[in-house]
Amino acid sequence: MLLKDTDFIKLPLFAKGKVRDVYQVGEDMLLMIATDRISAFDVVFDDLVPDKGKILNSISEFWFSYTKDIIRNHLVTTDVSEYPMGLNKYKNELQGRSMLVRKVRMEEVECIVRGYLEGSGLKDYKAAGSICGIKLPKGLKQAGKLPEPIFTPSTKAQEGHDVNISFEELVNLIGSDRASLLREKSLALYNAASKYAESKGIILADTKFEFGYMDGELVVADEIFTPDSSRFWQMDDYEPGRAQKSFDKQFLREYLESIDWDKKPPAPRLPKEIIEKTRAKYIEAYERITGKSFESV
Ligand SMILES: Nc1ncnc2c1ncn2[C@@H]1O[C@H](COP(=O)(O)OP(=O)(O)O)[C@@H](O)[C@H]1O
Ligand SMILES: [Mg+2]
Repeated sequence: MLLKDTDFIKLPLFAKGKVRDVYQVGEDMLLMIATDRISAFDVVFDDLVPDKGKILNSISEFWFSYTKDIIRNHLVTTDVSEYPMGLNKYKNELQGRSMLVRKVRMEEVECIVRGYLEGSGLKDYKAAGSICGIKLPKGLKQAGKLPEPIFTPSTKAQEGHDVNISFEELVNLIGSDRASLLREKSLALYNAASKYAESKGIILADTKFEFGYMDGELVVADEIFTPDSSRFWQMDDYEPGRAQKSFDKQFLREYLESIDWDKKPPAPRLPKEIIEKTRAKYIEAYERITGKSFESV
């Protein structure tokens, strides 16, 4: 079944993203629902990608479990029959594509780890030879591997793009104990996941975490190591010096570049073939990462 909107949920809306809708459940929990919406170039399309929400949700669920000995997380359950407030009657709509999580006090920064040079990191490197105040060797190429993974935090901008900040600026914002713990946990998570991903033929180029405090304890919240929060590259196609093929949205982006669209709303309708190919890529990411076949979701 396809899911575009979640207005059948009669709970206070907590956040509505491009892909996910988040509802407030009682005082201290949230329901995060991953729809089948797809966006590219910051525009959300009318067409849906069947099963995309389930795949994103399942990838996050896999990684929360894989990393739980590094740091605890906000996940309570993904079993709809355990959801409170009568939500279990939406089993058909929600099972497999939603999470009940503890609402936590979020750190107001995005914790990014980069193992490779791309995106805003590449831009900053070209301009200054460093990212977030971390000096890097000369002569690195686009998508090149960094000498070691680096922690490059940014502030969450309400509007517009996030702003990269140095570790010192982070210390000034939240204090050195909290800043050091964020850096330590972010690097430990990235190191564990990128090693695992590599064994599955996927390069985890960079990723973004959001942390929060649950009963005073630092936990990882939001989503983790999904194609929306990370750059996944296909290892057998990797070649520094150019843009890498993104695992998930490459077909869509290439198609959109090939048509006459200014990348502003309204979004064009998408051909069946593009939707199908995009869906197949999401499924491949899921299967490679979890080692399970998609039918079992
Ligand atoms: N456990 C949590 N407690 C409180 N807020 C959370 C928790 N997990 C995620 N959030 C917040 O919920 C929102 C989810 O929005 P999201 O679907 O990621 O949309 P977007 O990234 O497009 O804004 C984000 O603001 C995130 O910081
Ligand atoms: Mg988000």
